[in-house]
Amino acid sequence: MYLEQLSLTDFRSYAQVELSLEPGVTVLVGSNGIGKTNLMEAIGYLATLSSHRVSSDAPLLRFGTERAMIRAKLVRGEQSTVLELEINSTRANRARINRSNPVRARDILGICQTVLFAPEDLALVKGDPSSRRRFLDELLVSLIPRHAATRSDYDRVLKQRNALLKSARAGKFSTGHEATLDVWDQHMARAGAELLHARLELVERLRPHLRNSYAGLTDGSKEAGAIYRSTLQGAVEDDGAVSDAGGPAEDLRLLSVDELTGRYIQAFASSRRKELERGISLVGPHRDELELVLGEAPAKGYASHGETWSMCLSLRLASYYVMLDDARTGGSAPILILDDVFAELDVQRRRKLAAIVSGAEQVLVTAAVEDDIPSELAGRRVKVIPGGIDEREDR
Ligand SMILES: Nc1ncnc2c1ncn2[C@@H]1O[C@H](COP(=O)(O)OP(=O)(O)O)[C@@H](O)[C@H]1O
Ligand SMILES: [Mg+2]
Repeated sequence: MYLEQLSLTDFRSYAQVELSLEPGVTVLVGSNGIGKTNLMEAIGYLATLSSHRVSSDAPLLRFGTERAMIRAKLVRGEQSTVLELEINSTRANRARINRSNPVRARDILGICQTVLFAPEDLALVKGDPSSRRRFLDELLVSLIPRHAATRSDYDRVLKQRNALLKSARAGKFSTGHEATLDVWDQHMARAGAELLHARLELVERLRPHLRNSYAGLTDGSKEAGAIYRSTLQGAVEDDGAVSDAGGPAEDLRLLSVDELTGRYIQAFASSRRKELERGISLVGPHRDELELVLGEAPAKGYASHGETWSMCLSLRLASYYVMLDDARTGGSAPILILDDVFAELDVQRRRKLAAIVSGAEQVLVTAAVEDDIPSELAGRRVKVIPGGIDEREDR
């Protein structure tokens, strides 16, 4: 798919901006702080309903305003879709698809497909496990939008179960509570099993693409891998801590959602005492880890700066290829967004990355310095100027 038109109202630094785009490569050039990332962030938000820079919506609203609008026209084959998303400070966000009646924002997930590369991606390797869980879950929802509900069900149950465990820890726990906890265990086991099942399948699909992408970006001397570590496999240690990452989840992959539900029920039962002592849920996909591996060693803590970047890029490329696999069976090729990444890379990696992405249906690249963009990414140049776009098609 490609984005043909983007229009923002009161989004970040923009009171109003219109951007017309074409398939193929477009490079947006403009000095630092001019608003390039703001444009890319808006497109990414349309795809995931979250920003790659901030965890809440508030900073997305132009300072002093209470409502931002993102409008986009997406083209997929012969079909075009107009998406409108309203981000509100005081009430729920709303969306419209092809000027229909307003729907929940969540209902547009899966329509705009993007893979966004950004300097923040370094956290995929260096950051804590939540960055990698988020990576998996966002990709999952893009591929299978109904998993947005799986995620929010799980989060809701987890929150309520944690509240109950916390009050138990504070001593406000009776035998009646124990029965309530049993009920929450059932809910959490089911929701957790669905999420775990989906994640394990996704990791399996990502793995070969991760390996190939890493080999393509580097000299191929180390192999990149990913191991999903589940707290379902981790022994709860005597101090109540589940051994940090849990065990590799290889043999869990063959289990059905029902079987995983059963495993969670068992695990909750055997960790209940610890959980009551600690006042927190110790077992579940919210504490799992996607361990990234380079050669023999984990990437985190061992990889060099260059290797870390190659791993991050490879994860994003792997997402892109998984989405492309889906595109062959009815999905659509995602829009690639490379926000300010070339400045971070050495010349070799720049050229290899450029060669890999240049064939995508649409590639949007931002850079402060045009010379950072390798010649492999020939295409339209758009100049970003204060408050808007100055299009020049002189090359
Ligand atoms: N909510 C907001 N309201 C108004 N201005 C904002 C808001 N958020 C960010 N900005 C401004 O946007 C600019 C940063 O834009 P950005 O897209 O990150 O620049 P770059 O071109 O370097 O990628 C900064 O000047 C910042 O002050
Ligand atoms: Mg930027």
